[in-house]
Amino acid sequence: MSALGTVTRPASDGAASALNVLRAGLESNRIADPCNIVFFGASGDLANRMLFPAIYNLRLEDILPTNFGVIGFSRTPENDDSFRANVKQSIDTYSRSGPARDPLWSDFARHLSYVTGDFSDSAAFADLKRRLEENDEHLGTAGNRLFYLSTPPQVFPKVVAALDAAKLGPRDNGRGWTRIIVEKPFGTDLDGARALQAEIVKVFEERHVYRIDHYLGKEPVQDIMALRFANVIFEPIWNRRYVDSIQITAAETVGVEGRGGYYENAGALRDMIQNHVLNLLALVAMEPPVSAGADSIRDEKFKVLSAVRLIAPEQTTKLTARGQYGPGLIEGKPVVGYREEPSVDPHSDTETYAAVKLLVDNWRWADVPFFLRSGKRLAHKNSEIAVRFRQIPHRLFGETGDAIDQNTLVMKIQPDEGVQIRFNAKVPGPKMHIRAVTMDFNYGTGFGTVSAPAYERLIGDAMRGDATLFTRWDAVERAWQIVMPVLNGWRDTPAPEFPNYLAGGQGPRTSDAMLIADGREWRRI
Ligand code: BG6
Repeated sequence: MSALGTVTRPASDGAASALNVLRAGLESNRIADPCNIVFFGASGDLANRMLFPAIYNLRLEDILPTNFGVIGFSRTPENDDSFRANVKQSIDTYSRSGPARDPLWSDFARHLSYVTGDFSDSAAFADLKRRLEENDEHLGTAGNRLFYLSTPPQVFPKVVAALDAAKLGPRDNGRGWTRIIVEKPFGTDLDGARALQAEIVKVFEERHVYRIDHYLGKEPVQDIMALRFANVIFEPIWNRRYVDSIQITAAETVGVEGRGGYYENAGALRDMIQNHVLNLLALVAMEPPVSAGADSIRDEKFKVLSAVRLIAPEQTTKLTARGQYGPGLIEGKPVVGYREEPSVDPHSDTETYAAVKLLVDNWRWADVPFFLRSGKRLAHKNSEIAVRFRQIPHRLFGETGDAIDQNTLVMKIQPDEGVQIRFNAKVPGPKMHIRAVTMDFNYGTGFGTVSAPAYERLIGDAMRGDATLFTRWDAVERAWQIVMPVLNGWRDTPAPEFPNYLAGGQGPRTSDAMLIADGREWRRI
């Protein structure tokens, strides 16, 4: 072992590989089942930027077995060769492992094919069925099928119905498994989500449905459970007796990135809080699950979301804040305001920043405020959960004038990945001066490894049939119930003050005021 904490291990192929001591002895990747994955919306941005590179890297990492098929399905006319060229281009441009390389690429490309068609075109679905059966025969994909809905959301019900009509649903698959991954947004409001769910259940049972929230595929998000339930030192103080408040932040520097059309009908509350941020709240606030099984964890997440007190529409002014960015500077460069972005109404009322104060009405969390915020074009990219503990009960130390900070534990999700604890220490010297200091753990340097992108992890899990990191319908529905009163309250009170924060800033003043009224303040982004 070197002083840096690494051991050199002879790799099975005879080459020496350096392995971080913290990862020594770990079982290597679990291989997924042989299967076909069909990407609906294969010419879209998500497929090109995220999904194709993810599949290629799953193959590179030997998580995808040699018996696999990838079928792109979209309205854009392509043939197998042009589809392969597109996939190569997307890997060359976006893959974390660099450009596609032979011999892996040539072999990978053989497994790719394409079906052109409208999402309700029965002939195209018949063609898809034929391709799947051919792959089963020639590529050994064993009748296992994973359908990935990455089309615009209004098309989801059509694809589900067309799959059923083509006898491609799970009931008609006598050979292997059939699963469906549904991209977000799952509905644009509570009624829309219920309507979509009603279409899905006509064809798929809950165990076949994998609703993606890519935040759950991020390593530090999975580590929330490890921190809480693989340690004894945090859980005893993880409650209203010791916790003063919890802040959950998902701040971005990017604007709407050419997605103005989508974002105009979404806004920060639907786009980020309803899914990613409420999932973080559920993980940080839930009770210990009885096992690490998908349903035990999802039971607890649902339970705690059920305990979230709904905000009455008339309380939205007090318990929420919203904002929209005007022009400003991001990393020193001028950027336009939201209303000047392409495909955005110049008088738009859509919020690009949302903050809410929630209470969780149960024994563990009664009266502990959870402050949630998310926004675009803020000062820094920063997603984190900060647990702020109560003030010490009795002050012994500290020269007059020394502030004794409240302890804070921060789970850093991105761009830094790690855990930080802020506590008080004595300043060296003859007097008893107290100052806050920080203890930092960083995944990258700690484990000497770079986290795989969330989509890689999640697609691999769906292929293995592990639904732990996917959102169950009950939680999706509950999350919509939590945000609906706020959406309704905001709809009924227009926001004449928009734009109300500068791009590159900390968000709107009304958001700061919401915390000040509570005797607290936001952490700096
Ligand atoms: C998506 C939202 O779900 O998450 C985007 O639709 C947002 O608006 C993105 O930018 C943020 O994801 P990440 O992984 O970059 O934090």
